[in-house]
Amino acid sequence: MSMPKDSGKNAAAESPAVAESKIQPAKGKLGVMTVGMGSVATTLIAGVEAVRKGLAKPIGSLTQMGTIRLGKRTDARTPLIKDFVPLADLHDVVFTGWEIFPENMYEAAEHAAVLDRDHLKSIKPFLEAIKPMPAVFDQHYVKRLNGTHVKQGKSKCDLAQQLRSDIQAFKSQVDRVVVLWAGSTEIFLEPSAVHQSIEAFEKGLVDNDPNIAPSQIYAYAALKEGVPFANGAPNLTVDLPCMQELSKLTGAPICGKDFKTGQTFMKTVLAPAFKARMLGVAGWYSTNILGNRDGEVLDDPESFKTKEESKLGVLDFILQPELYPDLYKDIYHKVRINYYPPRGDNKEGWDNIDIFGWLGYPMQIKVDFLCRDSILAAPIALDLVLFLDLAQRSSELKHLGIQEWLSFYFKSPMTAEGLYPEHDLFIQSMKLKNTLRHIMGEDLITHLGLEYYD
Ligand SMILES: NC(=O)c1ccc[n+]([C@@H]2O[C@H](COP(=O)([O-])OP(=O)(O)OC[C@H]3O[C@@H](n4cnc5c(N)ncnc54)[C@H](O)[C@@H]3O)[C@@H](O)[C@H]2O)c1
Repeated sequence: MSMPKDSGKNAAAESPAVAESKIQPAKGKLGVMTVGMGSVATTLIAGVEAVRKGLAKPIGSLTQMGTIRLGKRTDARTPLIKDFVPLADLHDVVFTGWEIFPENMYEAAEHAAVLDRDHLKSIKPFLEAIKPMPAVFDQHYVKRLNGTHVKQGKSKCDLAQQLRSDIQAFKSQVDRVVVLWAGSTEIFLEPSAVHQSIEAFEKGLVDNDPNIAPSQIYAYAALKEGVPFANGAPNLTVDLPCMQELSKLTGAPICGKDFKTGQTFMKTVLAPAFKARMLGVAGWYSTNILGNRDGEVLDDPESFKTKEESKLGVLDFILQPELYPDLYKDIYHKVRINYYPPRGDNKEGWDNIDIFGWLGYPMQIKVDFLCRDSILAAPIALDLVLFLDLAQRSSELKHLGIQEWLSFYFKSPMTAEGLYPEHDLFIQSMKLKNTLRHIMGEDLITHLGLEYYD
């Protein structure tokens, strides 16, 4: 009798050769435009150059260091992901972007103070040559910043046109473009009438609708230009019906939101473990201190509210209190972020977790993560731009709009309407790898594995 394989058959997939032919090759230059040239963007760009020059390794990047198992465990096929799917080579990546301050990338990286002076000096000419384009900015949406390097326009529609011209100019120098929001967290906004369709949004741009924040103007400009957009902040930005419609229409994939770096990364590892073992959680208190510009922006209650929403959703979705009321119904979940300048980008995140076990006996777990925020975020940003570019070259992914398989990288993953997000890091990892197997015509891996005992 033939047994099912632990690599489940991918019914929809063709042979690897046929599947590969449905993905355009990564020929020529990939242009990456970052909105914001702060800690994450400078650490990403300086890091890519350091890797290209052989000065350091791309640690933390799945696209650069990760492998993928193909077929059965006995097949011994585990290529590097970058050898398995056609990704842009780091040497073909070109950077530019927008920023509300005029400093070049070297000055901005010095200011961000994430990377050592010596590290930056070794790539100084490269960084100095990257100068930001003037930004679309309005202090109403980020109260703690006051930018000087800002575009002037008659209306939000006019500003969107200016961004489109910037994107068109860059497109003429490279072969493909991806836009990454690495700008600040904006004030908390909710979807409104202006976000319900492309038409309503375009009218809102002309009317200067206050529900349209700068990040949405960038997203609109990119998608109109058929350029994929990744959202590293918790702002709505592309998490709106009008953007999803536009993304599908122009075949420009989108993903978001909010890079999953320190504390939430830990939370989405630990919470699934408690649930898997049916351990209860009474409370989870999370607090952070950080002293970079991001911390300063998040010190404003309106920007913090946007971040808080993004961080709080995680536990409810993972622990499913409606299915396990005895274990998770009364969980007390609190998240705090405090601006503390001496720490700069070296954030400290504490978690106190009150759990309970057999017969309800209480226990405690303390996590103190002395992390480096942008050192964790930069490889995520790199993977996102490379994978979004891949998605746009894949006929199966290009017109899907939201790329849910990239949930792995986000605190608050976007999903199709009516779907709850998957927050469990290991489900997200499996979803990502199975998506790569699927588009390449390989069998999906279910981990069933009965055939080894046949
Ligand atoms: N660093 C991390 O680990 C991390 C993790 C998760 C999410 N994020 C989010 O990523 C974003 C970037 O983080 P960061 O640490 O680099 O912050 P940062 O403050 O160092 O950089 C953001 C930059 O964006 C600029 N900016 C703001 N509005 C802009 C606009 N409209 N146009 C162009 N530039 C604009 C700011 O001037 C600033 O230089 C933030 O929203 C942050 O919340 C960061």
